[in-house]
Amino acid sequence: MAQIRFLGHAAVLISDKQHGTSLVIDPFLSGNPQAQAKPNDFNVNYVLVTHAHSDHLGDAYDIANRNKALFISTNEIAQEASTKGLQVRPMHIGGSAKLDFGWVKLVQAVHGSGIAGGLAAGFLLSFYGHIIYHAGDTALFGDMKMIGDMAPIAVAMLPIGGNYTMDQNDAVKAVELLHPATVVPIHYNTWPPIAADPQRFKKDVESSTQSRVVILAPGESLEL
Ligand code: NI
Ligand code: MN
Repeated sequence: MAQIRFLGHAAVLISDKQHGTSLVIDPFLSGNPQAQAKPNDFNVNYVLVTHAHSDHLGDAYDIANRNKALFISTNEIAQEASTKGLQVRPMHIGGSAKLDFGWVKLVQAVHGSGIAGGLAAGFLLSFYGHIIYHAGDTALFGDMKMIGDMAPIAVAMLPIGGNYTMDQNDAVKAVELLHPATVVPIHYNTWPPIAADPQRFKKDVESSTQSRVVILAPGESLEL
């Protein structure tokens, strides 16, 4: 049984006990006022990073190093990670990789990379057959329709906090384009500039789309 645990902000832990596989995306825990886990609290096989802003790169190097996990990100960030001695899988937007749990594909995100010459990315994953989309930090963009049509998304994790990313109103439009079964809002209420109302987002999405919204408090999990 696969599970998504929201660790706060944009950090999520995706695991499957039966297979003993887990991965963490954007593990910003130290200094994260929302964090409900410490970098040493869990073990992972993979560390995925959407872009190098500190609220996403976070504890990624430490976690990957301690777990001897494979570090997956865009080429620029993966090259930087390899200089820290990590085992890396450099990728780029449009590219996919087969891994023991399924596959990961890097998709567009409209945002800064946080590293010279880079691009921000989102992740589309097939995790033991569950299609999962983590949008990273991004504005709303029309090609979300293309991402939603690549594979039927079971769970989409979308930023709703505004200021640095799309706000909760644009995120409703993103849900229309992506048509996921379930949406988990992320990247909001960590700090005052990204305040959002997840209950209103849930009402707006569920009244205008076929998708359901599951609001996870930091530390809570969703079973797939
Ligand atoms: Ni960012
Ligand atoms: Mn961010």
